[in-house]
Amino acid sequence: MFSLSRSMKPLLSLTLLATLLPISQAALFTSPDQLPTTEYDFIIVGAGTAGNVVANRLSEDSSKRILVVEAGIDDTNVELIEVPFFGPNTPQSIVDWNYSTTPQSALNGRTIPVPRGFVLGGSSNLHYMVWNQASEDLYDSYAQKTGDSGWAWEAIMPLWKKISTFVASPNNPSLPPPPANNPSLSNGNGPVQVNFANFATDIDFRVVNSSKELEASGAGGGRFKFTDDMNAGDSIGFGFNQESAGGGTRSSSATAYLHPALNSRSNLDVLIHTQVMKLKETSPLTFTAVEVAQSADGPLTTLTATSEVVLSAGSIGTPQILLLSGIGPKDELAQVGVESTFDLSHVGKHLIDHPLVLTYYSVNSNTTFDDTIRQSDLFASTLELWEDERKGLFSTSSTNVIGFMRIPQGEGANDPSSGPRSAHIELLFTNGFAALGDTKQPDEGHFLTVIAAVVSPKSEGSLTLASAEGGTFTHPNIDYGLLTNEFDLVAIQQALRDADTFLNATPWTSPSPYIIAPFGDWAIARDGTDADREAYIRKNLITVYHPVGTAKMSSDSDATGVTDSRLRVKGIKGVRVVDASIFPSIPECHPQGPVYTVGEKGAQLIKEDHGLA
Ligand SMILES: Cc1cc2nc3c(=O)[nH]c(=O)nc-3n(C[C@H](O)[C@H](O)[C@H](O)COP(=O)(O)OP(=O)(O)OC[C@H]3O[C@@H](n4cnc5c(N)ncnc54)[C@H](O)[C@@H]3O)c2cc1C
Ligand SMILES: *[C@@H]1O[C@H](CO)[C@@H](O)[C@H](O)[C@H]1NC(C)=O
Ligand SMILES: *[C@@H]1O[C@H](CO)[C@@H](O)[C@H](O)[C@H]1NC(C)=O
Ligand SMILES: *[C@@H]1O[C@H](CO)[C@@H](O)[C@H](O)[C@H]1NC(C)=O
Repeated sequence: MFSLSRSMKPLLSLTLLATLLPISQAALFTSPDQLPTTEYDFIIVGAGTAGNVVANRLSEDSSKRILVVEAGIDDTNVELIEVPFFGPNTPQSIVDWNYSTTPQSALNGRTIPVPRGFVLGGSSNLHYMVWNQASEDLYDSYAQKTGDSGWAWEAIMPLWKKISTFVASPNNPSLPPPPANNPSLSNGNGPVQVNFANFATDIDFRVVNSSKELEASGAGGGRFKFTDDMNAGDSIGFGFNQESAGGGTRSSSATAYLHPALNSRSNLDVLIHTQVMKLKETSPLTFTAVEVAQSADGPLTTLTATSEVVLSAGSIGTPQILLLSGIGPKDELAQVGVESTFDLSHVGKHLIDHPLVLTYYSVNSNTTFDDTIRQSDLFASTLELWEDERKGLFSTSSTNVIGFMRIPQGEGANDPSSGPRSAHIELLFTNGFAALGDTKQPDEGHFLTVIAAVVSPKSEGSLTLASAEGGTFTHPNIDYGLLTNEFDLVAIQQALRDADTFLNATPWTSPSPYIIAPFGDWAIARDGTDADREAYIRKNLITVYHPVGTAKMSSDSDATGVTDSRLRVKGIKGVRVVDASIFPSIPECHPQGPVYTVGEKGAQLIKEDHGLA
């Protein structure tokens, strides 16, 4: 959506410097035949959000040799991913796998994009940086579902201290001073930097004040409360958005976990531009080797792990690799001509994502970001300010304030959320036209975007192989089954009505109206019937890009799972899964925090099981 003509310019001076300085430890390889050995203690598949956590933690034990195999590119000096504001530009770019869904029956047969990171850092280098750690209730529900108290909130929460550090936002003077500006429970002294928006917008306090006003008046039974910290166990409320950024730059799992280890340890090798095509059976039902290739028909190289293979290829890549290895539903695999090695019926099932609808308003303001995106001179000077000083509009994500709510209809037996501290729906506010999905930036005008999402959806779908040909170079069938469960439509309608309530609060109406009119298709739906709104939803709904569940954990007696509570693939040996695919239900929040948590937890389990230091 944004013009990025300048953003890819190579940082020549840095590259030169790197070739002149002796690089003592860094072991980043671009082809399998460069590797010093084909045998490692651990092979991690995917240098993504969780995979890099595992790589860092396992390589703390200098007696173990670790290899990470990553399909995508090096993330070094890619401005597109460094600039926080450019998050929405990463889909369909050099850092994306460019998947899309199958036609979605409840969305008029539309297919929608499924962006996934194709780069060191994985999707942590594509995402919009919203930083949540899910509610107490979510983790307690995982403990209950797996029968393992190691997943309960009390046991999990201490891991957060190892993941992130909260840092100041010196370029946003409007934030409350510390200690209010110090969400301490969910952050500690870990390598991921987390901050509030580094640049103030004119809507931030309209949202904050509306929430406080609605809370005080008891509107909606207190459903719009303000919160200082939505990451302290109770997710409900509106407040400043914590973002995984610091010093005006994105903080990814590559910058936080991978590069520091790569630059200082000699027992960690990373191989990029290379895909794991399948697992190889090394002895009956033990799969401790992988076959890798650099193109669909390229030569295959076998790499062996003497201890374990860790699948961290994400909710799309992990089930795809399992299925291509013959580990999955036997009948389904037979249909595409893949020989079964172990019949594990739920691989690829329970695929679930958060649905989202964008609504637009033209507004009485000339301080939205719309002009900056449209006017090349303004864009260039804003980028220059970021390049020179890491300041200005581009030094933060485009969403400064968000809120999570429960819906009245969600209570009782029908409630899909994991408990009263977990949300059903979410609203996000953007100070300009957020051109996500198929929408295009209008040529003129100033806008407000209100995004409504369902964070406890009931609809689910599945991932299946489209073909056995081409291995992981062939995209699988990704079916989210969006809106196939009625609950999700009810919930999103509620979120849209809540947005109406919000925008009628005093900060938007007085002293003069901020909103001129709803814009585009939304103009008809906004003032129409429920049926008009439903039509708008089916026509425009996309997702928040949070797929999970395709290798979900379950207790030993529950056959609907793929992994056990120690993240081992059930029924086989030598393979663990550590990524977003293991969630037994979708976190009712933006999931990167919980994914990092799975990374730390997974690393801890591996260290325990193999006696690592
Ligand atoms: C556009 C976008 C916006 C988002 N916004 C947010 C947000 O604001 N906040 C939030 O919390 N979450 C957000 N998310 C979701 C979040 O980024 C993901 O949930 C999380 O990063 C998933 O981590 P993962 O470790 O499971 O997988 P990933 O980080 O995707 O890592 C998987 C890695 O495995 C590699 N891989 C896959 N297959 C193979 C193979 N066969 N061989 C070798 N390597 C392979 C991939 O290239 C990738 O590097 C967003 C996601 C996207 C795409
Ligand atoms: C995804 O699409 C972009 C834009 O066309 C392209 O540059 C990139 O190489 C594609 N990704 C892959 C993995 O092919
Ligand atoms: C928000 O409330 C504060 C405190 O009452 C007030 O100073 C500020 O002007 C308000 N801002 C907006 C945009 O309503
Ligand atoms: C923006 O609006 C303000 C107040 O309405 C006005 O003073 C200012 O000149 C406008 N700026 C631009 C660039 O149009």
